[in-house]
Amino acid sequence: MNEFLGLYPAWLEPGIGAGWVIGFIATIHVLFSHASVGAALVFAWLARRAVTANQPQHIDFIRKYGAFLLIFSYVLGSVTGPGIWFAATIASPRGISALIHNFVWLWATEWVFFLIEVAGVYLLVYLAGRVPVKTYLRYCTIFALSSVGTLLIIVGILSFMLWPAQQTWYQTGGVLTAFFGESMFAQLSARFFFMLTITGVVGGFAAAKTADPAEKAYLARTLSGLGAVGAVLGAASLCWFVSTLSADASIVSATRMPESFEPMMWAALAVTLIYFAVTAWRPSVMNFPVTALATLVILVMGLAPGETAREIVRKPWVAGGFVYANQIVGRDVPALGVKSELPVLAEKGFLATHPFVPENLRKPQTKWERLEAGRIVSIAACSSCHSLTSTGVRPIAEYFPGKADAAGIKDWLSAGLYRGHIAYMPPLPVPEQERGVMSEFLAEIIALQKTDPQQAARIAVKGFPKEAVQGEQP
Ligand code: HEC
Repeated sequence: MNEFLGLYPAWLEPGIGAGWVIGFIATIHVLFSHASVGAALVFAWLARRAVTANQPQHIDFIRKYGAFLLIFSYVLGSVTGPGIWFAATIASPRGISALIHNFVWLWATEWVFFLIEVAGVYLLVYLAGRVPVKTYLRYCTIFALSSVGTLLIIVGILSFMLWPAQQTWYQTGGVLTAFFGESMFAQLSARFFFMLTITGVVGGFAAAKTADPAEKAYLARTLSGLGAVGAVLGAASLCWFVSTLSADASIVSATRMPESFEPMMWAALAVTLIYFAVTAWRPSVMNFPVTALATLVILVMGLAPGETAREIVRKPWVAGGFVYANQIVGRDVPALGVKSELPVLAEKGFLATHPFVPENLRKPQTKWERLEAGRIVSIAACSSCHSLTSTGVRPIAEYFPGKADAAGIKDWLSAGLYRGHIAYMPPLPVPEQERGVMSEFLAEIIALQKTDPQQAARIAVKGFPKEAVQGEQP
């Protein structure tokens, strides 16, 4: 009887690539969600001051900022949040499955906090000025605590995606062992402080609408001070986070991070501090167009490279240090009864064990069958990280530079990758025949990309037209 691996069909997005679809949604989601959690803390601070220092006009700012957040974070954020789920579930079904099997109750808890937040933001907007200030302060406090709760839970899950917090997790499977570790606290700290920076910037949208000059000056200075402190401590936390990386992840980050990453981060910090210095000095600068521009700068210079870096550092794994980005389970997890699939792949290869390989391609004979089989194996093994077309994430043709003929590619596949000696890529321990069909396909598609990129993209996604393959009898 044939042994099948529990693999799913791959999601091939021929334009920008599945990875970028998730990356794009996730980056703007980070902006929406962090803006809300940071705002919740500012609300609690201002509401407290409204009570203790008798400054009821702060409540008006909370109402305005709350109304803005309703759209910015609670409509756009709630669309992009499930958007990440949909995209990640089809791009990486087993990665998501690994997370759900560990964290289902934590996720349920997070959703409860989130419900409190959603109800809370409505209460803050509609009850501002209609309930006693002290009652309002209680709403703000609950809103702040549940907001920080969502952050705490999500960060634990995100750091598990890098690797389980404690190595004993593979034996015990304990959820807290997966959740709490040094990298989790470092990431929590970085996200917490950068969240204050994002709030300092995005809060400008509501501060811009404040008419009273004295109130506006207070708000601008509070937001700027908060944002600047957040930026400095966030940068320090990022350094702490880097120091917690595992040995493998350190190699990957040292060798594979784009060179622009570090300068970009320092530049982002400098620009942010200058911006806050200016808005603290001249609160009138905190107007709509300047705030919009600053938000865009933070998104492009800070959040996008930051999230990209987290993606790179995670290679070759997608979750928990046991599911590879290409969905293969790469190590035993005794606690979950999960076994490494590398031995099965080494013995039988993808063609025999992948449930979605068409029957007629499991033992390819003709040239067309070999090319199609090679395409399917390449999709299964490589396409999660390398686009097979000329656009998107790490286009495969650019990585085999120069003369990429079938024999050369096969030699390359049979060296480091076959033995699993490359830190940032999953091993490819497949039988010789399978490396053969892969290299025939890769050579063909790389050559075609140089002469006819559009046709190459069509073929990568839809397959080779039978009649166009030379020597094929119809
Ligand atoms: C986990 C993601 C991942 C998978 C899966 C993956 N690669 Fe890579 N590959 C990378 C990364 C990351 C790099 C380094 C890229 C960079 O410098 O930006 C790389 C680099 C390469 C290179 C350049 C040589 C080198 O060692 O840096 C080649 C060739 C390559 N990959 C081929 C493949 C082939 C063929 C497959 C499928 C069998 C594959 N890769 C699967 C992530 C992956």
